[in-house]
Amino acid sequence: MAELRRRRRSLVMAFIALFVAFLASGSATPQVPLLLWSSESLPPLASPSAGHITSKDQLTSYLDAAFGSGSHTVLLFLQDKLSKDDFTVFGGVFGNKEDSAFKHLEAALQSSSSSVTLPALEWSGSSAILPLLQEKLGVSPVLVDADTLSHLSINTSVSNLLLINLPYCTGLHKSCREVLHDNDEIIGNVLSTMKATDVPYTAIYTGLRPSQVITEPSMTSQAAGRALLQAVVPDVKPPIMYNVSGSPCIMMWAQNLNVSLSATSEWVDLGAQTPTLTGSMCNSTNAVLVLNFGSGFTLRFAMSQRFFSVSARNWFTLDFVELQANGTTAFYRGNRGIYAPAEYSFHCQSVNSFRDALLVPQNSSQWRLNFIDFQIQGFGLNNGTNFSYASDCAGFFTAGIWMGLVTSLLMLLIFVYGLQMIMNLNTMDRFDDPKGPSISVPQSE
Ligand SMILES: *[C@@H]1O[C@H](CO)[C@@H](O)[C@H](O)[C@H]1NC(C)=O
Ligand SMILES: *[C@@H]1O[C@H](CO)[C@@H](O)[C@H](O)[C@H]1NC(C)=O
Ligand SMILES: *[C@@H]1O[C@H](CO)[C@@H](O)[C@H](O)[C@H]1NC(C)=O
Ligand SMILES: *[C@@H]1O[C@H](CO)[C@@H](O)[C@H](O)[C@H]1NC(C)=O
Ligand SMILES: *[C@@H]1O[C@H](CO)[C@@H](O)[C@H](O)[C@H]1NC(C)=O
Ligand SMILES: *[C@@H]1O[C@H](CO)[C@@H](O)[C@H](O)[C@H]1NC(C)=O
Ligand SMILES: *[C@@H]1O[C@H](CO)[C@@H](O)[C@H](O)[C@H]1NC(C)=O
Ligand SMILES: *[C@@H]1O[C@H](CO)[C@@H](O)[C@H](O)[C@H]1NC(C)=O
Repeated sequence: MAELRRRRRSLVMAFIALFVAFLASGSATPQVPLLLWSSESLPPLASPSAGHITSKDQLTSYLDAAFGSGSHTVLLFLQDKLSKDDFTVFGGVFGNKEDSAFKHLEAALQSSSSSVTLPALEWSGSSAILPLLQEKLGVSPVLVDADTLSHLSINTSVSNLLLINLPYCTGLHKSCREVLHDNDEIIGNVLSTMKATDVPYTAIYTGLRPSQVITEPSMTSQAAGRALLQAVVPDVKPPIMYNVSGSPCIMMWAQNLNVSLSATSEWVDLGAQTPTLTGSMCNSTNAVLVLNFGSGFTLRFAMSQRFFSVSARNWFTLDFVELQANGTTAFYRGNRGIYAPAEYSFHCQSVNSFRDALLVPQNSSQWRLNFIDFQIQGFGLNNGTNFSYASDCAGFFTAGIWMGLVTSLLMLLIFVYGLQMIMNLNTMDRFDDPKGPSISVPQSE
């Protein structure tokens, strides 16, 4: 009996260990963005390439270059949490600039003589920025707000590190937009106080930790995944490429390009045909992919990109899709979901015009579109013939997160099942009757 109990306990421990190990194994690389701007000039930073994560060492050497000699006054706006997505969600990528929760920040970035943006700074459990600044400047931080700052006399012959703590939304009392907007007001006040004192300064806005942990698979694992896919499914059709002077400038791939001209008619898969691309165009701001199918159908995808200062990135949007058949045209506006950083591609498992519609019909609700496993890129292909890292329409729940969630759930299920089984050992032990009828297995001739 004692033996059984010991075995049972070790089994339970094994299950728990397995479960915890599994949860911990997700190879997330959390990141926080960091914006740095100055009334003086900052040393240049090699512009980080797509999906590039700035390591702590790179940050250290940059701070060395920036604050290596002389005395500096540094304002550190340290928000409790911050992620790139905060800029895109609350910065008003699509809406007019009036919508933005970061108006003062944007203005400061625009009016400063130099600024540097690190969209993704590696974050490994704790923020490195405050200790690094303390080390580089050789001073302790002074906690200030706009009020105390106006009464502070800053000695410019020594370095100063002024710390302004900013909250992040907790879900209580205020919405995230309000909290970020209030923080932006504080930033505005502090900066105008600084301006009044005429002290040259460098300001940094970053987060103590990420507000969302989103795993971005590295480029290498992405390529490996595609290679693997190609090995398993031998005849993956090649993407449609529109070339300008020999190098691709638009790429599109879809499992199916299904269209239907009425609620009752069959789906037609245009993806099964090879189109001509006459009428396509691309330049640095606009890209139009025109697919002329022999069967009289024409699909037109129009994309554009523009710069959005706070996230310091160009974003591309799929503005509209047009379906032309039999001389009639239906027009679909790309909903807000169809966007990605300009150097990324956009991917979505289903882009359609009728369910959670990413494409909103403008003048024909009869004609329906349903694109399966759709991926498009109109900018930043840089001569390559591969898609860049895909920004998925699933938003926060990226494939990686779904996989994590589903497998965690599965593990939990196994765990519960295991526990259940172990509990049952007890009753089996007591009530099992060796003299009962044995299981009979019918034999077939
Ligand atoms: C500023 O700091 C330097 C070095 O500590 C000191 O010599 C100087 O007197 C200070 N100036 C003022 C105005 O406090
Ligand atoms: C594109 O992907 C293929 C297959 O994964 C790979 O062999 C090739 O090197 C990639 N090309 C570039 C330019 O990355
Ligand atoms: C476009 O360019 C790529 C790579 O240079 C090439 O593989 C592809 O066949 C070209 N496509 C067309 C339609 O010319
Ligand atoms: C798309 O069309 C193809 C061919 O008609 C069909 O096999 C497929 O099931 C369709 N997919 C959807 C999601 O309608
Ligand atoms: C790109 O093409 C669009 C549409 O033809 C045009 O409006 C725009 O001015 C062009 N942009 C550049 C930078 O050439
Ligand atoms: C286009 O018009 C022709 C003749 O008017 C008709 O037979 C055909 O079904 C139409 N095609 C579509 C896709 O509506
Ligand atoms: C739908 O709108 C587009 C663009 O505004 C127009 O070219 C097309 O003729 C319209 N189609 C119909 C059926 O009204
Ligand atoms: C693209 O490739 C062509 C031919 O290989 C080359 O002439 C051109 O400079 C390349 N462009 C870029 C942006 O790399």
